[in-house]
Amino acid sequence: MASPSRSGVFQAETDARLEAYAESISFDSRLYEHDIRGSIAHANMLRDVDLLTEEEFKLIKDTLETIRGELDRGELPMRFELEDIHMHVEQALIDRIGDTGRKLHTARSRNDQVSTDTRMWIRQSLDEIDALLVDLQAAFLSRCENDFDVVLPAYTHLQRAQPVLAPHYWLAYIEKLERDRQRIADCRKRVNQCSLGIAAVAGTTLPIDRQHTASALDFEGITANSLDTSSDRDFVVESTFVMSLIASHLSGWAEEWILWSTVEFDFIQIPQAFCTGSSIMPQKVNPDTLELTRGKSARVMGALQTLMLLIKNLPLAYNRDLQEDKPPLFDAFDTTRAMLELAAPIVRGAELKRESIAARIEKGYLDATTLMEWMIARGMPQRTAHHLVGAIVSEAMQQGVTLSDLPLETYQKLSDQIDESVYEVLGTANAIAAFRSEGSTAPARVREQIKLWTSRLENA
Ligand code: ARG
Repeated sequence: MASPSRSGVFQAETDARLEAYAESISFDSRLYEHDIRGSIAHANMLRDVDLLTEEEFKLIKDTLETIRGELDRGELPMRFELEDIHMHVEQALIDRIGDTGRKLHTARSRNDQVSTDTRMWIRQSLDEIDALLVDLQAAFLSRCENDFDVVLPAYTHLQRAQPVLAPHYWLAYIEKLERDRQRIADCRKRVNQCSLGIAAVAGTTLPIDRQHTASALDFEGITANSLDTSSDRDFVVESTFVMSLIASHLSGWAEEWILWSTVEFDFIQIPQAFCTGSSIMPQKVNPDTLELTRGKSARVMGALQTLMLLIKNLPLAYNRDLQEDKPPLFDAFDTTRAMLELAAPIVRGAELKRESIAARIEKGYLDATTLMEWMIARGMPQRTAHHLVGAIVSEAMQQGVTLSDLPLETYQKLSDQIDESVYEVLGTANAIAAFRSEGSTAPARVREQIKLWTSRLENA
């Protein structure tokens, strides 16, 4: 069957190879619910401005609902020769109700239709991803109480830096995920503008009411310029960027926990339900889920690159290139969703290896900066204190001991400003207790943050 988009102007049949090359129904069929919802709202508006009669509207609406039911149940096989889901639904309508069905596309083009359907799909998907982000935040938060007594090394350059409470780590991820949520909310505003009614590119001479359709579809408003709207895929790129940053956060976390689950770190046990074995090495319990999270993030970021390249050379307005936006868009969202769905149970189920962590927590001079600040608080210039503590650490390294193990004579040999009270800030437990600043790992600050997030997530 010839595509309904080929008008009477065509004198030749479509080459069979073009049909296969140009179809998008194999991937855009998942827009069908939004497409039908958009069509019903459009028809409703056409009725209100007297472009359809009440009976015509009713017939269109009822038939579209029947078609939706058939699509829900997989009873309406996809027709690839109809190019895309939009033509597929419209043709099913025309097949059933003839000329009345032929009126649905009044004052509409697939250009505004595709854009609107995609906006509705992204809007819903953003909301779903947002809920998964909240769940992952809740998973991290749920660990905080139980892990409060665990001190972990904080790293910079993957070298031991300063001691932090384990919940300080969990709260760090909660903050990253919160920025992801903010980006979703911000991006959603630009997604949530209705394109319907710009028709192909210049608008329409027919007396449509765009606001009417927009509010029926729960859009915040309508897009302002038909040329811009016909060409615009910023909302696709932007929402995929938001997914990319989520994926990047998850990938960094996955990498961290992969390292932490090695014999070398031995900080954490990943739940076995999310690990796999080896077909040859019987002892292996591999953190494949986390490796896949790290690996799959590449797909999401790749999708963003594809979309950036897709739009960069397009003159106004709609160009068929834009049909290629959907595979990367869908893949970015599907992949991010899958990553989030698995991250939450891993976070909830993982166990810190307290003894192993504690056995080595005094290694690496995590309290050196605290000692330096103790000197500063006693009036020593920072640079001087920095140099002095470096010398003290060097002495401790040579003796193979910790700072708290160094005898007072050694301290006093290096500085006459040190007395017995220095031991009050040495050792990781003392160092942790000495923190004060906002945003620090001070136990009281961390408690405050846990409380804050508990109430925020209750209301999320
Ligand atoms: N399947 C196309 C897409 O997704 C539909 C738009 C076709 N418009 C056109 N002028 N050929 O972008």
